[in-house]
Amino acid sequence: MTTPALEIQDLKKTYATGTIALKGVSLTVPMGDFFALLGPNGAGKTTIIGIVTSLINKTSGSVKIFGHDIDKEFEKAKTYIGLVGQELNFNPFEKPLDVVVNQGGYYGIPRSIAMPRAKKLLTDLGLGEKMTKPAMTLSGGMKRRLMIARALIHSPRFLILDEPTAGVDVELRRSMWEYLRGITEQGVTILLTTHYLEEAEQLCKHVAIINKGEIAFSGTMQDLLAMHDEKGSAKEGYRGSKLEEVFLNLTSDSADSPQAEK
Ligand SMILES: Nc1ncnc2c1ncn2[C@@H]1O[C@H](COP(=O)(O)OP(=O)(O)OP(=O)(O)O)[C@@H](O)[C@H]1O
Ligand SMILES: [Mg+2]
Repeated sequence: MTTPALEIQDLKKTYATGTIALKGVSLTVPMGDFFALLGPNGAGKTTIIGIVTSLINKTSGSVKIFGHDIDKEFEKAKTYIGLVGQELNFNPFEKPLDVVVNQGGYYGIPRSIAMPRAKKLLTDLGLGEKMTKPAMTLSGGMKRRLMIARALIHSPRFLILDEPTAGVDVELRRSMWEYLRGITEQGVTILLTTHYLEEAEQLCKHVAIINKGEIAFSGTMQDLLAMHDEKGSAKEGYRGSKLEEVFLNLTSDSADSPQAEK
């Protein structure tokens, strides 16, 4: 068996505030996969991604990136990952070209190599005409694409995207899907979180659903959809897609949903 891109075992996280965000999560993302991590607001998705990318300290458990333990081989594990975080976190006064080229610097890529690579990435992502304007002048969707270009500058083998299409219009979202599909075809593994379930259904082979810090489902998208209960949903009067209905069944008692707080 080939080494998985990501192997998480019994991951636990309690924040300093006392919030238990992860209660023992185990997850495997096969190499070359397009993997969806789904879950309601506050389920623990960004916490997992933060730990995998060493931005957040875990409480216990283990994480391996292509077989490299993040505790023992942090530098090695880091080079494999490209991260598109949930929050926009570039300097708004900087130009997109500089944002991407400077990121290359963190990975030891000389400017002479990073420059043409950054120009190609930005052009491919539709930012060719914006690359030398201050980043703050980009629209919301353009800023998301800048985040993707920046994450790809060191040609990572594993791209992690935390809600990359939040606030991106339908047409652009579809072109981003095409772009991401193209990347997986080149052998890059992708882990994606999204609240657009249709997006996960279109793109992803495997899916995990997390709810209140625990994995509620992990398997193929096909197996998840097969859990759909036609009769049950007709009785309950649901009107969503199959995936939406299965998702709601698995997560309906979400702690952070306004209804649960009543
Ligand atoms: N820095 C922090 N300090 C304390 N609690 C936190 C912190 N970050 C997240 N949490 C809590 O941990 C839990 C999981 O949050 P997380 O951001 O991982 O959820 P998420 O699944 O990414 O949600 P969303 O879909 O809204 O982005 C939530 O209860 C959240 O309030
Ligand atoms: Mg999040």
